[in-house]
Amino acid sequence: MEEELIQIKNSAVSLILEAEGLKTLEHLRLQFLGRSGRLTLEIKDIAKLPIEKRPEVGRLANEVKKAIEDTIANQELRIRQLTDQESGIKKQKIDVTAPGIRPNIGHLHPMTQVLYEVIDIFKLLGFQVADGPEIEADYYNFEALNIPKYHPARDVQQTLYLDTRKSKVAPGETILRTQTSNMQIRVMEKSTPPLRIIVPGKVFRYEQTDASHGFEFWQFEGLMVDTNITFTDLQGVLDYFVKKFFGEETRIKFTSHNFPFTEPSLEGYISCTVCKGKGCRFCKFSGWVEALGGGMIHPKVLENVKIDSFKYQGFAFGTGLSRLVTLRYQMDDLRLLTNPDLRILTQF
Ligand code: DAH
Repeated sequence: MEEELIQIKNSAVSLILEAEGLKTLEHLRLQFLGRSGRLTLEIKDIAKLPIEKRPEVGRLANEVKKAIEDTIANQELRIRQLTDQESGIKKQKIDVTAPGIRPNIGHLHPMTQVLYEVIDIFKLLGFQVADGPEIEADYYNFEALNIPKYHPARDVQQTLYLDTRKSKVAPGETILRTQTSNMQIRVMEKSTPPLRIIVPGKVFRYEQTDASHGFEFWQFEGLMVDTNITFTDLQGVLDYFVKKFFGEETRIKFTSHNFPFTEPSLEGYISCTVCKGKGCRFCKFSGWVEALGGGMIHPKVLENVKIDSFKYQGFAFGTGLSRLVTLRYQMDDLRLLTNPDLRILTQF
């Protein structure tokens, strides 16, 4: 009898678990637990057993009954959940003509856009792009550019020094470059004229950040070395560049200046991009804004890279790429360029 009970349980459980509809499940319930169901009849037969066997078989019969009832209840729940899901999907109507959700597509940062534009303009004039290290030796950033130790020009380029106490490098010799001019030396050292190079890159200075200063900003450097290069070639190239970059109506004017690595040196101002030279707050009512520096490469610098300064001449210039972006878009705060705020960046 015990064997019979266990068999009933096994066949009931496997049939119940296979049932896919509520009707089949109800049918199985009657088949096993109904008034003339297999288990019910079996339980009735317990009365025919010898009296001492009845409690034990009775307990087993109860367990079997409970197992069948529990399995039916669980299967019923599963079937109901499945049919709910299916009808949910059927109820959903899809309108294939509805406009889709436009994905958010990123774009280049305004600094990168401007950088690519600058490169394209200089490419037209035959310039190549060079790239160089941001961690630099004092020699390339200052010394070879005719800025020896204790030269006052170092004061305006507040330098960040690397702590080299645990290495073999002498203290104070390794810095974060303060200008892209370091690449003038690196390029000229390795190649022979004619040279036409521009070097965009990040530079670093120990500065308090404010609307027009940052401790990390972008510059780009230009360099041209050949025979018969004159000061007017420099002025012509710069004039061509600002007209291409800011628009044909833009004017450029030069004032004399002093950089240790160029002689003579100049500073370039462009007509204000906001008021077109009439005078406004942006240009402090002068009509002009400072845009770049440059000059003829100092013979001492050419000697430092073993280029014959009697045979070759060259010019160099440098400007803040970040500055070009703020002038182009008339921004009055440099910090907007390093702020990853999408409300600002999506405007470009
Ligand atoms: N390196 C200079 C600076 O950071 C900018 C500059 C001026 C670069 C004159 C030049 C140059 O190549 O000839 O202020």
